[in-house]
Amino acid sequence: MLIVANWKAYIEDLQKAKKLVSVSKRLSRTTKNDIVLALPAPFLGALAVGNTSKIAFAAQDISATTGGAKTGESTAPSYASIGVAYAIVGHSERRALGETNAIVAEKLAHALAHGLTPILCIGEHERDGEGRYLAYVREEITLAIKSLSPNERAKVIIAYEPLWAIGKTAAFAIEPNDLSEMVLYIRKVLAELLPGKSSSRARILYGGSVEPENVRTLTENSGINGFLIGHASIDAHTFAQIVKQSA
Ligand code: PGA
Repeated sequence: MLIVANWKAYIEDLQKAKKLVSVSKRLSRTTKNDIVLALPAPFLGALAVGNTSKIAFAAQDISATTGGAKTGESTAPSYASIGVAYAIVGHSERRALGETNAIVAEKLAHALAHGLTPILCIGEHERDGEGRYLAYVREEITLAIKSLSPNERAKVIIAYEPLWAIGKTAAFAIEPNDLSEMVLYIRKVLAELLPGKSSSRARILYGGSVEPENVRTLTENSGINGFLIGHASIDAHTFAQIVKQSA
């Protein structure tokens, strides 16, 4: 299982960040799961450089451009050059600020061109009775990856994060049955876009109010390959419980 901790902007102090990173490094030595930490950019600069531990680092977002006169942008090559391995792309909190599927597609291309593994966030705002949310998810995936080469498409990790489940508590997360159905659906969509049989190997994560209380039921028989954890990733004990129970 791939467990991605998305700290968002919850942590704003380097000493706290250092502590949490070293707890995760210790945790990584006692679990078979892979741990990825998505830190605010300044902390990546301070803590990802020279990393030789089992954990990996992710950017929470990357620029849709590279190089040149672009004040304030943090580009894929700059993250790659400090040892960051992954990039979250298209998180709903970025999309809420105006990020379109076209921008998401640009970001994916830059991430892949510079050796970052993209974690593409998708997910519907709400569930309707007519299944329009399925078409919405299909469109998000298709528009994001269709301009990539077949080999590049196969490298993209999908994080399914229904917006209605983000930032709440375990009681509001998705039901395991609904999750396994969605994972099957996403694999079906990917089968039309990925080369050969690679859709069966594609990594699909779930995110949205994952907590120690629901991590086990969401893992069992759902077909997911890991989690993207928000608020529950910034408490060392809670995060450790989640990592231990995801198997
Ligand atoms: P949450 O956030 O775990 O706090 O719901 C998940 C996410 O937004 O990635």
